[in-house]
Amino acid sequence: MTRYAQIVGWGMYVPSKVLTNDDLAGMVDTSDNWIRERTGIVERRIAAPNETTATMAIRAAQAALQVANADPARLDLIIVATATPDYLFPATACLVQDALGATRAGAFDLSAGCTGFVYGLVVGSQMIISGAYNQVLVIGAETLSRIINWTDRNTCVLFGDGAGAVLLQASDVPGGVLSAVLGADGSGGDLLVLPAGGSRHPASVETVAQNMHYIHMNGPEVFRFATQVTARAARQALAEAGLHLEDISLFISHQANGRIIQSAAKSLKLPPEKVFVNLDRYGNTSSASVPIALCEAIEQGRVKRGDYLVMVGFGAGLTWAAVVVKWGVPLPVSRPLRRIVVWRWVRYRWATIRSYLRRLGWKILAALRGLFIGDSSSG
Ligand code: COA
Repeated sequence: MTRYAQIVGWGMYVPSKVLTNDDLAGMVDTSDNWIRERTGIVERRIAAPNETTATMAIRAAQAALQVANADPARLDLIIVATATPDYLFPATACLVQDALGATRAGAFDLSAGCTGFVYGLVVGSQMIISGAYNQVLVIGAETLSRIINWTDRNTCVLFGDGAGAVLLQASDVPGGVLSAVLGADGSGGDLLVLPAGGSRHPASVETVAQNMHYIHMNGPEVFRFATQVTARAARQALAEAGLHLEDISLFISHQANGRIIQSAAKSLKLPPEKVFVNLDRYGNTSSASVPIALCEAIEQGRVKRGDYLVMVGFGAGLTWAAVVVKWGVPLPVSRPLRRIVVWRWVRYRWATIRSYLRRLGWKILAALRGLFIGDSSSG
């Protein structure tokens, strides 16, 4: 039997704090007019102090599981695509796994810059198509506000925070993720880079003084790269799926700059109604942008069963990726019954308690070992 990887659940989360272009004009030498004209961005969301990539990823994941009425304990794998993990390790995906009570799931983070979510879709769907797994949660989540230099007008106007998630499920119904294109060109790595905090430039007083823990970007070069790869990757993914430009129902590109999206749409000969744009409200949320756009496209009734969606990502690496998805779920989905919502709430509270007890268990065991066996590392 041929296996397919269908998207059966989707969810998003964005912080409530809105930062407008006018707000930014009060912080750096810029203007609402310049930002709108050069990028298409009007406002973006900024995480509250108690929000992180993991907390936003968990909210998006819970929403996706709710849509699919899926049990977190049955998940096989959780992939979190992010450039702004809570820690270098443990993986943010492990924090999500713990919070969801996804006791059977493997979990890892995926680093492919803004392309991360589309890379994750490819990895997750291949895990399903190969027969290895039945349910894979793919999340794109970012807290870019924490790595932005708020005095650098070249970058601070572009980015925002948020998270989006999809649940992939094995199916024998033809459709789902039909084709995949992955690309990379590491020679362009310096064009979009967070220079310090890794093994090349570990954190030090100097790295902090030299602003090396912030995004550094050559905007015009990244712009040129993005306009070249976006349409090309979309074409390749279509060809691989045996489809043509006319078959595209909706084009969901990484939301980095309205001019990049327009240029790709023109090259693909797509009318505006086949191109999804929401970067005016969120800015560039990196790996969260495509799943957030997908959620809003569904919400706006722009996706229906049998549609061919083309999703394209590009970003740091340099990397790019494209997939064609044949939509398989009837829309709109009905609201879940109240008792299911309550049951799910109880499940997540239980996951929190379980996590607390397991953490306590690790501490007690370590203390007991110290007491009865002694500190073996000192020998
Ligand atoms: N407000 C006002 N002026 C600004 C500005 C801002 N926020 N940012 C840059 N400028 C100025 C520059 O200093 C420059 O001034 P100068 O001519 O006096 O030197 C001028 O605007 C033009 O700068 P330039 O970088 O050539 O503008 P641009 O038209 O290329 O637009 C970007 C800049 C960043 C919007 C554009 O290059 C871009 O979107 N690049 C891709 C970025 C991206 O998508 N990154 C993420 C990829 S995942």
